[in-house]
Amino acid sequence: MGEKESNMVVNPYEVEGKVDYERLIKEFGLEKINEDILKKIKKIVGKEELHFMLRRGIFFAGRDLNWVLGEYEKGNKFFIYTGCGPSGPVHIGHLMTWYFTKWLQDKFDVELYFQFTDDEKFLYKDLSYEEIQKWTEENMLDVIAVGFNPKKTHFIIDTKHAGIMYPEAIKVAKKITFSTIKASFGFNESNNVGSIFYTAMQAVPAFLPSILKKKKIPCLIPHAVDQDPHFRITRDILPKLGYYKPASIQCSFLPPLTGSEGKMSSSESVKGILSTDSPAEVKNKINKYAFSGGRDTIEEHRKLGGNTEVDVSFQYLRHFFEEDDKKLAQIEKDYKSGKLSTGELKKYTIEKINKFLGEHQERRKKAKTLISQYILKT
Ligand code: TRP
Repeated sequence: MGEKESNMVVNPYEVEGKVDYERLIKEFGLEKINEDILKKIKKIVGKEELHFMLRRGIFFAGRDLNWVLGEYEKGNKFFIYTGCGPSGPVHIGHLMTWYFTKWLQDKFDVELYFQFTDDEKFLYKDLSYEEIQKWTEENMLDVIAVGFNPKKTHFIIDTKHAGIMYPEAIKVAKKITFSTIKASFGFNESNNVGSIFYTAMQAVPAFLPSILKKKKIPCLIPHAVDQDPHFRITRDILPKLGYYKPASIQCSFLPPLTGSEGKMSSSESVKGILSTDSPAEVKNKINKYAFSGGRDTIEEHRKLGGNTEVDVSFQYLRHFFEEDDKKLAQIEKDYKSGKLSTGELKKYTIEKINKFLGEHQERRKKAKTLISQYILKT
């Protein structure tokens, strides 16, 4: 696939180089979210403002959004499908997509199927089965803390739900060739055979509700753009099995603390900001590592101003932690003019993140007793 030009690589197992989203739209063949689609969403959600991640183009592209929204307007409701690969702690990059997903669930009042791919992470990571199970439990607490409606949210844990997943996964797998997998994920002969099969498992929740409810139901998948290769394959196959192609709504990545290329990850040496970080840890991470777009000295900064494009604190506010457009615009203006220093910007960002995480952590503490309500009953 053409994703390797210059040094940009974007697939579920590798995100490298500076991510050029316009180029990804072209190379993946995505539909950019335009005014038309935003208007359609706005019409459905009513008086309320569009979510700021839509207004700001954080969710920037998708597939078949016009179709899935059109069906909704005709009374043919979709369900939402998203997921989590449980191989480590949840970071704010995960939380960004999940809080947006909650907004979708609330505004459209739809069912959500949430997949925990313990099989995937066991196959791809150097972790034992037991370690992966521990992360599955931990990650479930975070997903519950987001506040999804327990009556309308169903967790699928791949190995636990194997009884209903596997018969469907083999139907998908029969239609995927090894050469498709190699081309989509950059695999070669030395990848383990489980990892070659895995895409079939990620395809299943896109049509499992249609099987459970015995009727074809449209599916909308919110996800970060790196997951698209799985769903390109899924979209090719589902019509052959008698289901709708899943639609998707895709977001850009939250940058890593160091502002370097790629995406936030909890396996890097400088870990991202984790859902369980204490206020002191957040403060330390932002102060010590968050790449600054400010100048070397305060005098220079006052004179020349900072660069919000590369400033990680500003980017965290823009992507996730400052919902108020007016405030964000003021911060941008003041930082660019030099009126606002890096120290001040960091201080504000730390406060915003800590407030958010404080509330998330309160709900997370109570989540353990709720797990059983969320697990898909079969
Ligand atoms: N493969 C994803 C990951 O590694 C997990 C996942 C499964 C997912 N199904 C999904 C993510 C659907 C988004 C949408 O994190």
